[in-house]
Amino acid sequence: MLLITGSQGQIGSDLVTALQNRYGVDQVLESGRRASDKNLYETLDVTNHQRFREIISAYKIDTIYHLAGILSAKGECYPERCWQVNIHGLKNVLELAKKYSLKVFWPSSIAVFGPHTPKQNTPQTTIEDPATMYGITKVTGELLCQYYAQRFGVDVRSVRFPGIISYQTLPGGGTTDFAVEMFYAALQQTHYTCFVRPDTRLPMMYMPDAIGAMLKLMSADAAALTVRSSYNLTAISFSAAELFAEIQKHVPTFTCDYCPDYRQAIADSWPSIIDDTQARQDWGWQPTYGLSAMVKDMLHQLAMRIEGSGFPVAGFDSAQPAKSLSIQISQ
Ligand code: SER
Repeated sequence: MLLITGSQGQIGSDLVTALQNRYGVDQVLESGRRASDKNLYETLDVTNHQRFREIISAYKIDTIYHLAGILSAKGECYPERCWQVNIHGLKNVLELAKKYSLKVFWPSSIAVFGPHTPKQNTPQTTIEDPATMYGITKVTGELLCQYYAQRFGVDVRSVRFPGIISYQTLPGGGTTDFAVEMFYAALQQTHYTCFVRPDTRLPMMYMPDAIGAMLKLMSADAAALTVRSSYNLTAISFSAAELFAEIQKHVPTFTCDYCPDYRQAIADSWPSIIDDTQARQDWGWQPTYGLSAMVKDMLHQLAMRIEGSGFPVAGFDSAQPAKSLSIQISQ
């Protein structure tokens, strides 16, 4: 049976469905800090080793997708908590993986890179000097993964995710969140004040590609995997202004201004375009969505979910009422 930590988060909520489709609804156990009335769900604080162990043993878990973590911007507000959750949570997972021979997926991030990392075509192995506590926990986490793989034979697999764009669940507390917020604003408010400069160019990825990457990496032949810290992974790189221009093609009334805050410095410390040759070679990684296809699909999917967006959606079944979402755009 599979366990997902942080299953109600941005990646978790999409991954649950993908894993249920692939392995069966009764094979996927969700967990998170918040209570839920879902059937296969356990409340779990990932820093609680004993509770973690009880769940793994009770459900005979053989694979963990360990997604629970605190992102970059929130991590700067709560650095101590960020270290606790990201490091002690992962350490618990790796210890339990060693004890119970579990297979593990854990997401690292472009946040492992810092001001001295080459910004263009960032190599797989390069300078990692993160400027955030989140980045520090990701570098440490990568080294822990590599150590547990080499020393104890733990089958842990990881990718350095860029900013993930999705419509199911909002990201929380990340620096790349502006890219998702811009879509909601385009359909709900017609204006967006972006918290990074228009020329801020970051690596991003549409959720279907992120899900595809996780499933593909986890089913790859272990012998083919040459990287046990974390694989560079890339899909699309665009600036905030380019994203706005692409959205505006579909929503001409949409306007945007820019008011950079503390997250600008975090964005400035990250690369613009990443070289993911190793992932392509080792396990056949290939993204599907470019900027225009991603924007088109995002607007279409979100318009179906946001009541009264007024956005014309081809093929939308009007007999099915759009779900009303309460969206909080953080500024
Ligand atoms: N999307 C993440 C963040 O912005 C990066 O991994 O924190």
